[in-house]
Amino acid sequence: MTSHSSTVEPIVWTGHSLRLLDQRLLPHEVVYVECKTAEAVADAIRTMIVRGAPAIGVCAAFGIALAAGDTHDRDSTDRNVHEAASLLGGTRPTAINLAWAIDRMLRVAAATTGPLHATMVREAESMFREDIAANRRIGRFGAELLGDDTTILTHCNAGALATAGYGTALGVVRATREAGKRIAIFAGETRPYLQGARLTAWELQQDGFDVTLITDNMSGHFFARETFDAVIVGADRIAANGDTANKIGTYTLAVLAHAHDVPFYIAAPLSTIDLQCPNGAAIPIEERSGSEVTETLGWDRDGQQHRVRVAPDGIAVRHPAFDVTPARLITAIITDAGVLRAPYATSIAEAFSRSGSAD
Ligand code: MRU
Repeated sequence: MTSHSSTVEPIVWTGHSLRLLDQRLLPHEVVYVECKTAEAVADAIRTMIVRGAPAIGVCAAFGIALAAGDTHDRDSTDRNVHEAASLLGGTRPTAINLAWAIDRMLRVAAATTGPLHATMVREAESMFREDIAANRRIGRFGAELLGDDTTILTHCNAGALATAGYGTALGVVRATREAGKRIAIFAGETRPYLQGARLTAWELQQDGFDVTLITDNMSGHFFARETFDAVIVGADRIAANGDTANKIGTYTLAVLAHAHDVPFYIAAPLSTIDLQCPNGAAIPIEERSGSEVTETLGWDRDGQQHRVRVAPDGIAVRHPAFDVTPARLITAIITDAGVLRAPYATSIAEAFSRSGSAD
């Protein structure tokens, strides 16, 4: 099963295993890793072979489906499924799509009598298809917000690579072009893990977009030159009041956008909204290794990845992988259920009751 929605296919279910495009090696090598067990899928999420909130949710669902295929005995299957759920759920803390997908799989498992494997596979496949469909809807809603000739700034990678396909923020970019409008994209490099430079730049280039890469500290300069008509980014978790966690550096861009009167849009499916989370202060923020800050990534002539130390030994380092943009800086949240505006507590609650998916 493939996404058929862009050149880039990050997640491929073969019927008995999950093939994942190894995002650690992009843009230098296009290599797929085959995961045959839930443990292998958990490892792939933990080590960033696959990343991006919706993508890791869908992968966790397939991980559970793999765990359900290990035995025919229903009691052992249930045990395997729950063990896989807790292993996969512990891989990364900020993206709520992970917990959302696991909860959904466990609920379907609990409601199923008899053999579980085929049901779990079907459910994971549905999530995969639904994610692409949601992204296409996000894209269409978002495209309506943009003019006929638009330049946007995006951050990190909220593209096909971060989802089952098509992308959220980059889904808006795709849909805008499909609507016959001209769109140019500035991609911030996204220090320290360089998702913008390595992934967004590559993904958009693959699909023939007009994409320009800048380092994160250049964004103020381009805001001052009135380069951007809008900022569009993805989200890892949106609280019930609209506060939004996304890749570190997003908040900085929201402040800049506000100062320069540029619309700041979040593009995310309803599965990224955590109704149990009242506000941004309650969102857990992943702290990653300091070595990703003290070292830069490089590749030698053979395409081998290596790291170069750029900071003195013994230096104190912090590395929060995400930050929270307060709702007041967000012009709109573009979801698969429509464009939500402030007050977000109300528009979010209404979107869930319209879609009938508040549980
Ligand atoms: O650490 P990552 O690469 O998983 O972070 C990804 C992001 O922050 C994305 O913007 C977010 O998950 C939305 S992806 C559609």
